[in-house]
This record gives sequence, structure tokens and C-alpha cells, in this order.
Amino acid sequence: MPFPLSRPRRNRQTDWVRRMVRETMPTTDDLVWAMIVHDGDDAREPVSSMPGVERLNVREAAKAAKRAQKLGIPAIAIFPHINPAKKDEQGSEALNPSGLIPQCIKAMKDAAPDVGVICDVALDPFTTHGHDGLIDEAGYVLNDATTKVLVRQALMQAEAGADVLAPSDMMDGRVGAIRDTLEVADMHNVLICSYAAKYASAFYGPYRDAIGSSGALKGDKKTYQMDPGNGFEALREVRLDIEEGADMVMVKPGLAYLDIVHRVSSEFNVPTLAFQVSGEYAMIRAAGMNGWIDEDRAILETLMCFKRAGAAGLVTYFAERMAMALG
Ligand code: PBG
Repeated sequence: MPFPLSRPRRNRQTDWVRRMVRETMPTTDDLVWAMIVHDGDDAREPVSSMPGVERLNVREAAKAAKRAQKLGIPAIAIFPHINPAKKDEQGSEALNPSGLIPQCIKAMKDAAPDVGVICDVALDPFTTHGHDGLIDEAGYVLNDATTKVLVRQALMQAEAGADVLAPSDMMDGRVGAIRDTLEVADMHNVLICSYAAKYASAFYGPYRDAIGSSGALKGDKKTYQMDPGNGFEALREVRLDIEEGADMVMVKPGLAYLDIVHRVSSEFNVPTLAFQVSGEYAMIRAAGMNGWIDEDRAILETLMCFKRAGAAGLVTYFAERMAMALG
């Protein structure tokens, strides 16, 4: 009796057969380039907790959009770092039609019309307290009052030419409110990618540093972002956002939430994006720079695993590097 008949290792013996039987591989088409922009004079400013990531001014952002077009990266998601003097309790600067974000949208669309521009809808880069919405005296983030402001922010971004509005604030009902307003304004084709399953995560630390809200943030975001222990709640959030008119949904963070990526993408028939957030970026870079892991392999592996879990798109600060590696 020959032993054993079934030898799974046969399919792994050479590079060609491994490539031939591989089920998933990320491609440049899957990438969304997460990019920090700033309103300062310097073309580029380093972000200390995210080595290799720089805040770009408007001109550099336009150049980066051209670069994305050349590399074949479909879209860029921009996140603002503004002069702290422009922040207030209400995050008023978020509504400024000549503010940093609308300037970037216009410059980027002029430079590279074929690259999608995705804008975060939330107030945290603009508020002195660092929360995503308006707060009451006790510091509680007000849902419906915030939603009204987010709708205005979203409309302003759409009018500036944003292709995709991405509410990342986790207020209840905001997707429907934004969708209604877009319909009334005859902007039927503006996409909404909702951060539907967004967790109150420690992995956003470096991002808050990148947009300049970490020092300011009072308390935490646990009354609006989801508890990391919950899975069914993610499905509920996603269902609501789809009913309210979201075209795509996001799971965030990514790596520690692959089960959620899988459950969401299997359950619903809209594209699911996974966000490899700032803390995931920082961990890979830190270990890589110390020589503790092979960075290039770790990046490819994590993105491949997002795809395997069911992600249609991958939001990552490594997008440029990955697109170059994938060719
Ligand atoms: C806030 C927002 C956050 C991120 C995107 N939009 C952070 C937060 O909720 O505090 C995180 C991005 C990252 O960590 O890379 N609206």
C-alpha cells in the first residue's frame, strides 16, 4: 500500500506550480492610496510615527495624483492636517469651500482626472477637541447635530469634485442623510463608501499624530466607534449603511479584523474595502527598519490576506510602494 496517496506538498514544490494554483493575489487595481495632505508651505513634512509617510501640500498632492495615474492606482483617499489656529470647537473649517480639502480635490482632479479622489467625511481634523463630531458640555458627541454638519461637509466636497465621500464618523443615519442631499442636488453619481464597521481601535494612534489631533483628543471614541469584541454589530452597521445608500463599505482596522472582512463580504453584495490603518503601517515599518521582519514580504502578505478574506479594495499607506513592486 503506497503511502500517502495525497501529498499536498506536490502543489508547492516549485515557483511555477505555486503561482499556478494560487487563489488570490493583490493587484494594483485593488489599491487605494491613503495620503495625508497639509496646508503648510513646505512641500513635504515627515510624520514621525509613520516613517516614509509625509504630509503633502496641495502642489505635491497634485503631483502624487499624476504618479498614481502613471502607476495605475485607481484612487487616492486624502486626510487633512490643518494649521491648528484654524481649528475650533465646531470644526468650522471642514465647511470652508476654499479650504485644504477642496483645494486638493481640484488640484488632483486637474492633474489626474482618471484617478478617483476619496474624501473622509468627519470633523476630527478640524476640531480643537479631536472628536469626529460636535460635543455637548459633558463631551458627548451629538449624533443628529453632527450629521447635519457632515451633510454640509459632504456636499461641499462633492461640489469641489470629490468622486467618493467616505463618512468615517460612525454617526447613526449619516449615510442616508448624505445620500438624500446628493439626490436633491442632482449629484446621483457621487459614490458613498461608508466606514460601516469602524472599531474604536488603538491602531489609529499614528494617524492622529499625522493629522495633528492626538494631543488634542479628549477621552476616546468609544461612544461612537464599535467595540472590538463585536462581530454581529458590524453586520448590522453594514446592512443599515447599504439600505441608506452606500455603494461600498469599509472595515477598519484591517489585519486584526479579517473575520469581519470575511463576514461582511460574504453576507452583502456590495464591495467591501479593508483599511490597513496607520498603526498597522507603523508596526510593519518599525519591525522592518529593525531588521526583525522582511518588510516587502510582510506588506505583500498582509495585502494578499485582505484579498483572501474577501476585500475588493485595499486602502493602504503602502499603495505607491506596492504598485511599484507589483509592476
Ligand atoms: C477619523 C479617521 C480616523 C482614521 C481615518 N479617519 C481615525 C479615528 O477615527 O480616530 C484612521 C486612519 C488610520 O489610522 O490610518 N475620522
